[in-house]
Amino acid sequence: MRASLVGTGYVGIVTGACFAHSGHDVIMVDNIKEKVDAINAGRSPIYEKGLEEMISEEVRRGRLKGTTNLREAVEFSDITFICVGTPALPDGSQNLAYVKAAAEEIGAAIEEKDIFHTVVVKSTVAPGTTLGTVKPILEQTTGKKAGEGFGLGMNPEFLKEGDALNDFLKPDRIVYGCVGEGAAKMLREIYAPFSAPVIEKDCTTAEMIKYASNSLLAARVALIDEIGNICKALGIDVRDVAAAAGMDRRIGPHFLHAGIGFGGSCFRKDVSALAWKGGELGVETPILSSVISQNDAQPLRIVQLLTSRMDVKGRRIGILGLSFKPGTDDIRDAPSIVVVRSLLEKGAKVVAYDPMAKENFSKLFPQVSYAKSASEVVASSDSVLVLTEWKEFADPSLYGNKPVFDGRGVTRTANYEGVCW
Ligand code: UDX
Repeated sequence: MRASLVGTGYVGIVTGACFAHSGHDVIMVDNIKEKVDAINAGRSPIYEKGLEEMISEEVRRGRLKGTTNLREAVEFSDITFICVGTPALPDGSQNLAYVKAAAEEIGAAIEEKDIFHTVVVKSTVAPGTTLGTVKPILEQTTGKKAGEGFGLGMNPEFLKEGDALNDFLKPDRIVYGCVGEGAAKMLREIYAPFSAPVIEKDCTTAEMIKYASNSLLAARVALIDEIGNICKALGIDVRDVAAAAGMDRRIGPHFLHAGIGFGGSCFRKDVSALAWKGGELGVETPILSSVISQNDAQPLRIVQLLTSRMDVKGRRIGILGLSFKPGTDDIRDAPSIVVVRSLLEKGAKVVAYDPMAKENFSKLFPQVSYAKSASEVVASSDSVLVLTEWKEFADPSLYGNKPVFDGRGVTRTANYEGVCW
C-alpha cells in the first residue's frame, strides 16, 4: 500500500519507518527541509533505539522517502496519516493549529484527486476532535462528504520512548475508528502485516481509548507513589508492598514502580487534556485532576528528604540522571527539572550527569555544572540524588560513603535513603 505521513516527529517517523519495514511504500512529509533531507540521507530526525538503522535500510530499499511537498505526497499515496504535534495549552486544552493546517492542505490535495483517498488522524487529539474539527475541514476543502468522497479514520499510537519500534511492530492491540467502509478497508490493509487484536470502532471511541490508556497508566503511577509516601512515613519498603499487591491478577505487576513521579511528553499532557475535555462537557474530573497535582508534587519528596538531613544552602549537590526515563535524551516534564529548580532556589550548587540528556538540560539550566561521568559527580558533591534509573548508576561502589538519595530504586549504598523505601 502507498502511505503518506504528515509530520516527522516521534509518532510520524516511527510509524513511517515501521510501515515501510512491513512492506508498504511510504513518503514522509515535513515543512522542515532539514528533517526531510535527514530521512532521505538515511538518518533519523529523532533519537530512538534502532530507528536510524531501520530508516537507512528502508530508504536504501526505496520503500521510504521524504518530501516537503504535501500535495505530491497525497497524489503518490492512497492513505495519509496526520502525525503532527498537539502541544498543551495552559488550560490543558490542545493547540490544534498544526492538525487543522495539515487537514486543510490534505483536503486541498484530495480535491484535485479523482481516486478515493483516506485521511487518518494519528496525532493524539481529545475525544471528539476528529469528527468535530478535522471532518468539517476536510469536507469543506474537498467539497466531498466524509465516508463517501473520501475516507476518514482515527488511529492512536501507543509508543513508549526507548521501545517504540517494538511497541509498533508487536502491539498489544491495534485501535482505529472509521467513517465509512472505504477507510476501514484501507486501515485493515495497511495493518494486515501485523498480528495483534484489532479494535475497530468509531473515531471518538478510538480517541478515548488512547486517553483512557494513558490516564490509567498515569493514575497507577501517581497512586503507587502516594502509597509509597505513606510507606516511607511508616518506615517500610513500598517495593515489597507493590510486589505482593501486583500478584493479584486483577492488578498485575507492571507500572507499580514508586519513585519521584512520571515525566515524559505524554502523561501530563494527556491527563490534563482529558480533564479539560471533561470540564468542557460539564463532567467533574477530581481523580484526573489529582493525578496531576500529586505528580507535580512528587519530585519534591526527594528534596524534602535531602533537606531533612542537611542544609543545602551553599552545598554542592550531585544529580545523577536528567532524562525522564533511561534510554532517551528527552527531558520533557522530567522530575529532574522540578528537583534542580528547587535546589537552586534553596541556594545549593548543582553538579549533574546524564549519559544522553545533558545537552537538552543545559539549555534549561546553564547555571548548573555538568560532569563527564557519574564518578565525577560523586567526587565533587556533598550529597548525591539519583533521579533516572540508568544502569550505570546501579553499582554501589560508585558512591563510597557519600550520602545517596535514590528517587528510582536503582541502587543501594552504604549511606543511603530511598524516596519511598
Ligand atoms: C507513555 C506510555 O507508556 C505510552 O503507551 C504512550 O504512548 C506514551 O506515554 P512514555 O512516556 O514514553 O510512554 O514512557 P513510560 O515508560 O510510560 O514512562 C513514563 C514515565 O512514568 C517515566 O517518567 C517513568 O519513569 C514513569 N514510571 C513508569 C514510573 O514512575 N513508574 C512506573 O511504574 C512506570
